[in-house]
This record gives sequence, C-alpha cells and structure tokens, in this order.
Amino acid sequence: MLELHGKIQEAVDTIRRHWNRPPGAGIILGTGLGSLVDRIEVEATIDYDAIPNFLKSTAVSHRGRLVCGLLEGVPVIVMEGRFHQYEGYPLQAITLPVRVMKALGAELLIVTSATGGMNPNYQCGDLVVVSDHINLMNGNPLVGINDDRLGPRFPDMSEPYSRELIDVALGVARRADIVAHQGVLVAVTGPNLETRAEYRFLRLIGADIVGMSMVPEVLTAVHAGMRVFGLSAVTDMCLPDALQAANVEEIIRVANEAGPHLVQIVSGVLAHEAKSLGDA
Ligand code: HPA
Repeated sequence: MLELHGKIQEAVDTIRRHWNRPPGAGIILGTGLGSLVDRIEVEATIDYDAIPNFLKSTAVSHRGRLVCGLLEGVPVIVMEGRFHQYEGYPLQAITLPVRVMKALGAELLIVTSATGGMNPNYQCGDLVVVSDHINLMNGNPLVGINDDRLGPRFPDMSEPYSRELIDVALGVARRADIVAHQGVLVAVTGPNLETRAEYRFLRLIGADIVGMSMVPEVLTAVHAGMRVFGLSAVTDMCLPDALQAANVEEIIRVANEAGPHLVQIVSGVLAHEAKSLGDA
C-alpha cells in the first residue's frame, strides 16, 4: 500500500488543476442513478481517462467522469460511474478515487448502488438506507502493508455507516412520502446474479439486499476516517421461492425510475451537512 500514496497524490494534483475547492463530500453514483448530476451546479468535469491512476469504467450505464460543483450549496466531487471487481480490477485500484476524495478534503462519502431485494417486505423501486454490510467479495482493499498515513491497520467497523445520517435520511424520506427502509447489504463479486440457493443463504445470514459494489469503497472510507452514507435502490426482487429471471435492462430501468427519490434523499442529507457545517 506504500506506493498508493504517490498514486493518490498524482491524481489529486491533476484534479486540483481543474477544480480547486475542497469538497464537503465525495459521491459515487451506481448503475442507473446518474440523474443526481442534473442537480449539480457544475464547475468542472474531468474524464477518468485524463486522471492518472484512475481505471476505465466499462460497466453499462457508467459514464466514466468526475463531476465537480455545488449541490445544496455544498462543494461535491461526484463519480459518474464506478469500478467493480467483476470488471477484473484489483480492489485497491477500484477504491483509489475514495482516497483521492479524502486527500482533496472530503470528510464524507456518499455511495449509491442498484441492488437485489431479499427482504420480502421490500418492493422493486424502494430505497434502502444501508445500516450495515457483510463483505462476501472474497477480497478486501485494505489487504497489504498498511500505510499509517492513510489509516490504521485494524479499522473499527462498529458503525461503518453514520447513524446520524441514517436517521436524517429516514426523516427526509418520511416527510417526502418516499418508501425507504434501513437494511443490511451483502456484497458479492458478480458478475452473474445469484442462484435461488445463494439468495436463500444470503437472506439467512442476515442480509436484506445484495449488490456487486459499495463495500470496498466503504471499507476504504472508514479506513481513511471518513463518515459514510450508503443508499441503494432495489432494482429486482430476489425471493428464492418466487424468483423471476432478471435482466440488466430492467435493472437499469428500475434504477432510473428510483433516481428522483434517491436525489431527494441525498440532497436532504447534504442540506443537513450544510447546516451542521454552518452551525459549527
Ligand atoms: N444481485 C447482485 N447484484 C445486484 C442484483 C442482484 O440481484 N441486482 C442488482 N444488483
């Protein structure tokens, strides 16, 4: 991990040449959830191609650029398109942008994703405020020699997702009449969706939703000492005894439909941040 420090710095130097504000938050947008960008007062956009050590975004509906600007008055740096383990990339490279966000000054990471719903009380299109996670990715971005400048060897995981922001988000959803649950995410490698037997297992071990991302970024952010807010859209229902064949076009369509609700909740969380920063 020691050479990671230099890679982070190279990316930071390039981004600073395009946009020289310290971000209040870094935001990573998941599959079909790009509509948040329409709400940003954009000050700079930077293609991943132009940033040293950033990977190429190969997943469908992931654009591959950083959008920098203001959302609810808060300076934000937004990844329009993320990197996944199933694209064949190492987890440390996948999560480099989180390190870069932190090095630019972001103390909060907001992560969004499309997920399969395993809790039978959920419906397609509902939002889930992530309250905890289970890492079944068969990998961890923190493995390797620890660079103490980036974070501790054994980061605590008693509250990876800020309890305060979970409550803020649930309050925003309630007031806006948006269905938002709080639930446990399990992260798997993908790229295949799961078998019935796997969904049964994942539900049994305590997960409400399943996805192929988010957890590596959250582990990195917690290691870096950032607060984290995670929000997922349920894009397909994964009930083992009533499983329908899912397809990616349908998953993207449902995620797009959930987009406006997701935008409302993320905006509410940022408005809360702006107020706390203002009060401080
Ligand atoms: N499984 C894993 N990841 C997903 C799913 C799913 O059913 N739906 C959206 N992302």
